[in-house]
Amino acid sequence: MKKVITYGTYDLFHEGHYNLLKNAKALGDYLIVGVTSDYFDKSRGKFNVRDSLMQRIDNVRATGFADEIVVEEYFGQKIDDIKRFNVDIFTVGSDWEGYFDYLNEYCAVHYLPRTQGISSTQIRNADNVRLGIIGNELILDRFLDESKFVSGIDVVGGFAEVDSIDGDFKSSQFDALTKYADIDALFDDVDAVYINIPLSRRDAYIEKALAAKKHVLTEFPFSSDTKNTIRLIEKAKTSGLVLMEGLKTAYTPAFSKLIAMARSGQIGKIFNIEANFTQVLGDGLENQVRIAGGSILSLAAYPLLAIFKLLGFDYNRVDFISHKVDDIDILSKINFIYDDAMASATVAINAKAEGDLVISGSKGYIYVPAPWWKTEFFELRFEDVNLNRKYFYKFEGEGLRYELVEFLKCIRENSESFLMSHQDTIEEVRVLDKFLSNENVIII
Ligand code: CTP
Repeated sequence: MKKVITYGTYDLFHEGHYNLLKNAKALGDYLIVGVTSDYFDKSRGKFNVRDSLMQRIDNVRATGFADEIVVEEYFGQKIDDIKRFNVDIFTVGSDWEGYFDYLNEYCAVHYLPRTQGISSTQIRNADNVRLGIIGNELILDRFLDESKFVSGIDVVGGFAEVDSIDGDFKSSQFDALTKYADIDALFDDVDAVYINIPLSRRDAYIEKALAAKKHVLTEFPFSSDTKNTIRLIEKAKTSGLVLMEGLKTAYTPAFSKLIAMARSGQIGKIFNIEANFTQVLGDGLENQVRIAGGSILSLAAYPLLAIFKLLGFDYNRVDFISHKVDDIDILSKINFIYDDAMASATVAINAKAEGDLVISGSKGYIYVPAPWWKTEFFELRFEDVNLNRKYFYKFEGEGLRYELVEFLKCIRENSESFLMSHQDTIEEVRVLDKFLSNENVIII
């Protein structure tokens, strides 16, 4: 019996996939089809796959050509599968011509003609979300670089306030965008906007965009005013619009795994969290203060995310200790007291500490080294060091691509992100608001 094997993602199953599977089956007597797992696709840089793994497997099965279906989960699996199943022929479409010649050592390699004029990417791109940019802060350079890795999005153009266009801090890539002098003209041409306007005017632009019925992805912190935040979120909900805060850590693969691991009881009951995010901004200090304010407004969103995901929102008290220079908090500590747990965050824009995250539990602790907000690795540590376990994940580029992928997913599914929920945003703003209202604040 001649065994044939082929692999693919098979997203948005189309005629090209059907022809490939039909021709692959015709090469032998028994066809094995490898369908890529979501995690494997992400780890090889393939974001935005729309169909779930189950859906993609069902679609392959429905053709009737596959005698067996396996899930492809790691680099190098093809060699293992070929040996394991005693495969005679490996085949894929001609778009991969030459790429898999190294498998000749294990079986025959055959490239099948690709069906012209169709691909999953092409189908995904047919209903691209048209995105407008509001603001031209430096973060925009990174955002636009990262957006190139996300299919399904077209950046249409940008609008910036006159003073920021002429300021010293503009993103170099803003000049390359089609510029809109009038924000309503931008709204007319887009489905969604990304807002990177300084914090003091962020709410106003979120409001304008929602009024124009546009989905909104905004830089963090969302706002410093709780009432306004709740009002805007309600407005988005009643208008059926996605309103998402672009706090990149929330959307990265490792962070979700870390939270799930910590909450699964592996380290016992969580009773303490220590999370730091500090920077020495030097020349960039003025810019940072202009965009967001001091250390709490600029950086606290990160540790607050970790604390709330791990201990929830039901704390009894939050205290702040801040060192202020020229009325700007350049170093602050935030302490939370829960019924049976505590948490502490240090944030700074002109002081440096180890930027790690430690989650302590009754059986052991999780250590996430700096920079924990770009999590790639964490370790479970125990009294008996033989029980320690290390976990590694991929963190691509600057991480902003993950939030863009989630934003698109929420728009397509007309849903709220559970990775950074509206409540996560509201509770983050509530803490910033308490600080600005001088509630339990000690200044040194
Ligand atoms: N394929 C084909 N003809 C097409 C599209 C895909 O023969 N028009 C083949 C590929 O060569 C591969 C298999 O179908 O052997 C699965 O490909 P996959 O990457 O899942 O599909 P694409 O449509 O190429 O997906 P994408 O655009 O996301 O790369």
